[in-house]
This record gives sequence, C-alpha cells and structure tokens, in this order.
Amino acid sequence: MFESVKIAPSILSADFMHLGRDIALIEEAGAGYVHVDVMDGHFVPNLTMGVPVVKQLKKATNLPLDVHLMIANPLEQLPWFLDAGADSVTVHAEALDADQLMRAIAAIHAAGAKAAVSVKPRTTAGALAPVIADVDMVLVMSVEPGFSGQSYIEGSDAKVARIVDVARAVGASPLIQVDGGIGVKTAPLVAAAGADVLVCGNAVFAADDPAAALAAVQAAADEAGLAALAAAPKGA
Ligand code: DX5
Ligand code: ZN
Repeated sequence: MFESVKIAPSILSADFMHLGRDIALIEEAGAGYVHVDVMDGHFVPNLTMGVPVVKQLKKATNLPLDVHLMIANPLEQLPWFLDAGADSVTVHAEALDADQLMRAIAAIHAAGAKAAVSVKPRTTAGALAPVIADVDMVLVMSVEPGFSGQSYIEGSDAKVARIVDVARAVGASPLIQVDGGIGVKTAPLVAAAGADVLVCGNAVFAADDPAAALAAVQAAADEAGLAALAAAPKGA
C-alpha cells in the first residue's frame, strides 16, 4: 500500500520571534513532525537551541517533536531531551562508538520514544548495518550538518536506496528520513529512492506561503513515490 511521505519542517528556518505562529501554521498545513535541530558548536560549527526550547514546543503543539542531536555528547544530554518531551531522538553515528550507539538507542526506547541514527554525507550506508535492526528511523544527511539553506548533495538519493537495501538484508524496515536541501526539485529524487520523512527548512519557512510550499513538496514527493512503487513494488 502506498504511504504518503511525511514532511518535517525544521524550525531552524522559522521566525524565532513568532515561533508559536510558525508552529501553528505547519500543524494546520499537515506537517508530520516538528524537526528540532540541536547544535552544540562542537560536533558542528553552529550553535542553535536546546532543552528549554523543546519543553516550550511540547506545550505549543500536538505534532511529534523530532529532535536531531548534532552534539558531541548525546549520551549525557539524551535524558534531558527525553524528559522535555522529545517523541523521536536522532543521534549521529559519527558521535558515538558501536557500544555507545546501542546504549543511546536503548535509553531512547526505555523512555518510550522513537530512536533514530543519522549518517553524515561521507559516512557510508554500511556503517548502519550493526544498528539498523534496532532503530525506528535512519536519518540520511543530504548536506553537511550545521546550517540550513545549503544545496542538496547529489547522489544522496542513491544512498537512500543503499540504506533500504542494508535494512532489507537483515529484515528491517526503519523509516528513512532525509535532511538538507530538500524542496520541490529534490523531494521527488529521495521519495523515489524510498524516503518516508522529508526535513524541510528553507523550502517551507523561507517561502512567501509556507503552507503552500509544504503542500507542494508533499505533492511532488508523493507523485514520485507512487510512480516508483508502480515500477518496483516495495519488498519485491
Ligand atoms: C542541517 C539541519 C537541517 C537543516 C535543514 O544541519 O540538520 O535540518 O536545518 O534546512 P534546509 O532544508 O534549509 O536545508
Ligand atoms: Zn536536521
């Protein structure tokens, strides 16, 4: 059965002076998640937002809070984000060794949240093999993490397809999320390759009409996803 992709607008591109208004707007427009980009100035050069923002967001929306941790010490900070109300938490494979990664996934699950692991553009799909059966979602970075508004790195869609294969090889089917430079032109590429969740920062919030922009990305992705499914049914 065909499942529509879910759009996860990244509030890094929202208007922080009117964050409540922007959250209400994407909720009304049919977003699937609120994507929260947490950066610490160490794992990535940029510094953004943390636990207090997640706490406030939890009061402001019914949408699931999808917290993307681009921080050097996720194991230390994880409990705070889980307490604050994160519904899904993504840790980076590059920030943790294999044992730490399993501990992070277990801690997220113990709190009743969904666990995701992310790979940067230069980390191979194969690096996910040891954990792919244990996660609810894989986040494929289609830009170098750190800043919104960057251009999609070509070939990221092929990486999505490779990750789908890595998962299938062990009988797993985590959601695949793609993050970075996603808009009406790039969403069809990754949706056709098997992406389920698309993070959009600038494509939504820098648009004159963010609700219409969200709908346009969703429609472009769904059209491509449907065509790909017709050509090669999932699981075939
Ligand atoms: C980048 C962040 C992204 C980013 C997306 O490090 O993880 O979520 O804000 O922004 P756009 O869609 O503008 O590339
Ligand atoms: Zn992100």
